[in-house]
Amino acid sequence: MPSARVVPRRTVLRSLAAGLVFAPGGLAPSLEPAWMWSGAVTATSATLLAAFTGRLPATPVLLVDTGRALAGARRVEGRATAAPSRRRADRIVVEYRLEGLRPDTEYFTGFDAASGTRARLRTFGRGPFSFTVAFASCAGGTRPVPMSHVSNSRVFDAIGALDPHLFIHMGDLHYYNINGPARFGDVLLERFRRGLDRVLSQEHQALFYRRTPIAYVWDDHDYGPDDADARSSTRQAARRYYGVDVPHYPLPLAPLDDGPIAQVFDVGRVRFLMTDMRSERLPPAGEMLGARQKAWLLGELERAAADRVPLVAWVNPVPWITADGDADGWGRYAAERREIGQRISALGLGPRLVMLSGDAHMLAFDDGRHNPNGGFVVAQAAPLDRFVRPKGGPYSHEPPQQKNGQFATLQVEDTGTRLTATLQGYRYLGSGRAAPVRETRLRLECVGDRCTLVP
Ligand SMILES: [Fe+2]
Repeated sequence: MPSARVVPRRTVLRSLAAGLVFAPGGLAPSLEPAWMWSGAVTATSATLLAAFTGRLPATPVLLVDTGRALAGARRVEGRATAAPSRRRADRIVVEYRLEGLRPDTEYFTGFDAASGTRARLRTFGRGPFSFTVAFASCAGGTRPVPMSHVSNSRVFDAIGALDPHLFIHMGDLHYYNINGPARFGDVLLERFRRGLDRVLSQEHQALFYRRTPIAYVWDDHDYGPDDADARSSTRQAARRYYGVDVPHYPLPLAPLDDGPIAQVFDVGRVRFLMTDMRSERLPPAGEMLGARQKAWLLGELERAAADRVPLVAWVNPVPWITADGDADGWGRYAAERREIGQRISALGLGPRLVMLSGDAHMLAFDDGRHNPNGGFVVAQAAPLDRFVRPKGGPYSHEPPQQKNGQFATLQVEDTGTRLTATLQGYRYLGSGRAAPVRETRLRLECVGDRCTLVP
């Protein structure tokens, strides 16, 4: 007697996870990505990455529109960015390049106009543009036993509620501390991809990244093991993974899967420089950035000065204000720090440069008085969701107590002649809400190429 055909339970679960749920009475599958996140936003373009599981008949087409209903959506063809691995033949990541967008406009994206989740982003304005950027690092959860690696904190709801145009994640996206022999590169790559899957399947992070574009650079725990540097066996796998699974601005120093992931981009009239403090770091040589990345940074600083950019934000994920020789942050790279600080001073950029920094699990700003290397403003903002652990200092603006669930914003009001930049620290209160931390607030007023601190 022929037995009834039973669909294996695993297949059913996988189909459900893939969103290939059949409409009642119909056979058309509705496509639901496992996750979506966007980045590389400019005034007219952006990149959206979506992960799909399940065997798809074709690369899904993205619908893009200014209305959530996607009623008049245009269709954007995607490009599968990486061959499915042997271990995960059913998972693909598809990259969608959105071009020809209108400046300062909100866009929604999805794969099915009738149903399914939406991602959302806002393009930047051209020229003078008022905006908010949120920034922070370190999201691993706070459970010590067993150690948690990934966060599902509602601090992400709280940041989302402030509706920043961009979230700058300065590393420790998770704490998987991926490690292993470099010869098993494909296995390491798979671990990075799985780590990202876990981050983006946490409800509150998933929601946040679907509605807030990112600019993300790794620190140690999401690049390799604790305190990892250029010698880490994970270096190449981390680079390969970043190139295909993370939406990013062009990588001028890493066109292939080698080289640091440094990036430069403008939001309105503010220029952001983002450096990679891990994959080129060589402690025995006293090098933090590596020769190529240092030359690039100095060149970009020179270009910002020549362009008379009113404000420069250097995203430097590790603490700048630490004593010479200190094991934390730039302490062991004092000569390199001095050289960069001197160049910033010589270019006259000190008064109009702010450094956004993480790694230290603390919220603390310095108005420049404790920064002998360049004299610029430094803003430390962390941890999103991890134990408190201060580093470096002293800082001119520091709350009496550090807590978990901290981040900061850089809010820019630009009339075209006067640019006001406000740095504000926040702390998570619970129930998806955060409040400004009084002690961490700094304001710069920039006219022409001169910024002054407002008392
Ligand atoms: Fe951290």
